[in-house]
Amino acid sequence: MLSTTFISLCLFALFQAAACFSIKWIPCPEGEFNSTLPVQCGALRVPLDYSQTNRTNLTETITLELVKIPALSTPSKGSIQLNFGGPGAPSREAAVALGPLLQQMSGGAYDLVTFDPRGTGKTIPYICTNDSFLIGQIMAEIRSPDESDTALQRLLARSTVAATICQQGGNGREIGRFISTAYVVRDMMSVVDALHEDGLLRYWGFSYGTTLGATAAAMFPDKIGKMVIDGVQNPHEYYHAQADFEEWSDTDAVLSYYFTSCLDAGPTKCALASLNKTAATLEADLWSFIDSTRTSPIPISTTLIDLVAIKGLVLGQLKDVSGWPALSQALAVLLYGTTAQRNSVLAALVAALEAEDAFGPSSFALTQSLLGIHCGDRTVRASELSEIQGDVARLGDISKLAGDLDAAITTHCAQWPWRAAETYAGDFLVRTKNPVLVATNRRDSHTPRRSAVNVSAGLLGSGFLEVDGTGHCTISAPSPCSFRALVAYWINGTLPEPDSVCETAQPFDNYTWAEAIQEATGANLTAAEKRAYRRSLTAARRMR
Ligand SMILES: *[C@@H]1O[C@H](CO)[C@@H](O)[C@H](O)[C@H]1NC(C)=O
Ligand SMILES: *[C@@H]1O[C@H](CO)[C@@H](O)[C@H](O)[C@H]1NC(C)=O
Ligand SMILES: *[C@@H]1O[C@H](CO)[C@@H](O)[C@H](O)[C@H]1NC(C)=O
Ligand SMILES: *[C@@H]1O[C@H](CO)[C@@H](O)[C@H](O)[C@H]1NC(C)=O
Ligand SMILES: *[C@@H]1O[C@H](CO)[C@@H](O)[C@H](O)[C@H]1NC(C)=O
Ligand SMILES: *[C@@H]1O[C@H](CO)[C@@H](O)[C@H](O)[C@H]1NC(C)=O
Ligand SMILES: *[C@@H]1O[C@H](CO)[C@@H](O)[C@H](O)[C@H]1NC(C)=O
Ligand SMILES: *[C@@H]1O[C@H](CO)[C@@H](O)[C@H](O)[C@H]1NC(C)=O
Repeated sequence: MLSTTFISLCLFALFQAAACFSIKWIPCPEGEFNSTLPVQCGALRVPLDYSQTNRTNLTETITLELVKIPALSTPSKGSIQLNFGGPGAPSREAAVALGPLLQQMSGGAYDLVTFDPRGTGKTIPYICTNDSFLIGQIMAEIRSPDESDTALQRLLARSTVAATICQQGGNGREIGRFISTAYVVRDMMSVVDALHEDGLLRYWGFSYGTTLGATAAAMFPDKIGKMVIDGVQNPHEYYHAQADFEEWSDTDAVLSYYFTSCLDAGPTKCALASLNKTAATLEADLWSFIDSTRTSPIPISTTLIDLVAIKGLVLGQLKDVSGWPALSQALAVLLYGTTAQRNSVLAALVAALEAEDAFGPSSFALTQSLLGIHCGDRTVRASELSEIQGDVARLGDISKLAGDLDAAITTHCAQWPWRAAETYAGDFLVRTKNPVLVATNRRDSHTPRRSAVNVSAGLLGSGFLEVDGTGHCTISAPSPCSFRALVAYWINGTLPEPDSVCETAQPFDNYTWAEAIQEATGANLTAAEKRAYRRSLTAARRMR
């Protein structure tokens, strides 16, 4: 996987952070991407360990496999690099899927360029074990501390075992220290150099990709060309806390909003609104159902619908309002149907998740990558239950829906065997060469507005794009206003007026980016374009 040594001429250049490479772009192999876009592929070798890169020392390298979606207009104004979060989400396929939409949002003027971040996809994917028995054990015990009085002890002990599994097998000993966020930043800067443009980083990151972006801005403030971070995580907590507490601060409010907006939409748009129940009753009934799975989990075909599964299902649906009409139909049956009706709805949900491989190897790959990157980056550790009990309780206080689901990350990271070779340890207080644009929805179940305010306060001169919308990242809330704001930023560097807020449609209105773009530009979209934007959003739904 790791390529061998490397000639010292280029080492010198790498050490100087200059570019002795160019990327040779060729059409991607036939069948690699299912896209009508003229996607190009290229490769760049970078050091495995940037701290070991020096003039005299031959260094081990890895290859970044890049994809490029060329600008719609020529000449291109340069490249924008992308990241779609996780951490742990591979970037290449997501970029191709979201490409048509991101091209429009950047005025068609830039090439979109990306590589799978270290530890994911094609770039030294972090593999803890290939043993299917061990994989099954690890996945089956990523559980909620709320399931029983002893569940947290068990989760912590299981995480100790998982750490041992990862140390004994897998590639952690070789790469565990090097799949850090700071090194992905250095990879992005290596790409900047190899692109031979203006030497500046243009970057667009979503969710955890905002931590990557904030880290890049903080490490290389003088090299920031343009940057949009959308759906912002609190990077201070990402690195230095036992959990991403703040991430879940608005989750329960978004769940409540789901029910109130359902009643506002009325029975023609939201099935639950036809039952003559208040939002508070509907929500309480959902909680009764969730709580019942703690003691009475429901076997559905080959899957067990238990507390973690049902909470995970609901939490996932809060990310994207385009699924809310269907969710209301499902909930109407789950909460008020007969047992047979309920089980048939659950079977359909399970089948849909299985089709996305939500329980299979690709889900394990994402989990491994997430733990490998996030836990390596995390600077705190703990081994005793007493050291994390308070943190787990705090998670539960912040969000009844999501807090307990996050505890497994805390227990695993607390005992993670590797520390990142490099961690940005500063305060994220910098003035970037050019202003960063920080974007947030008002109701984001995964990355609340307050985290965007936090990061924006540190990135001096940054702009703030606020959408009065619901869902994870502004890209999940179609709005002609935010579309115009993004294009104005990418094309002219224009920032939104301070305290301005973009309007968007109500949930349950099925408003799409195709309509928003049509409204913003006055252009009539073709059926193919509309389809492409719809597919883009399906990809956005998976963003975490
Ligand atoms: C490829 O994309 C087309 C639509 O453009 C879709 O109909 C088809 O199912 C896709 N194939 C695969 C293998 O994903
Ligand atoms: C460069 O590598 C040589 C040989 O391994 C080592 O002696 C030297 O300390 C290294 N220099 C830096 C700056 O890391
Ligand atoms: C796991 O399997 C993959 C795919 O077969 C292989 O490339 C990799 O080297 C294996 N890793 C380990 C640690 O066994
Ligand atoms: C709705 O509920 C209210 C209060 O419980 C009741 O008075 C009313 O008759 C109900 N309407 C229908 C259509 O069931
Ligand atoms: C940002 O969040 C961190 C961690 O929660 C906190 O310590 C810091 O004071 C916050 N900064 C601002 C400007 O709110
Ligand atoms: C960029 O600025 C120019 C000059 O002010 C203006 O004509 C143009 O409409 C702006 N473009 C965008 C996308 O805002
Ligand atoms: C939104 O889409 C769903 C599912 O396709 C459909 O049932 C519903 O009627 C649509 N709602 C509106 C307001 O168009
Ligand atoms: C878009 O289509 C509508 C109705 O078909 C037509 O009236 C309008 O002129 C078209 N606009 C453009 C910019 O082509």
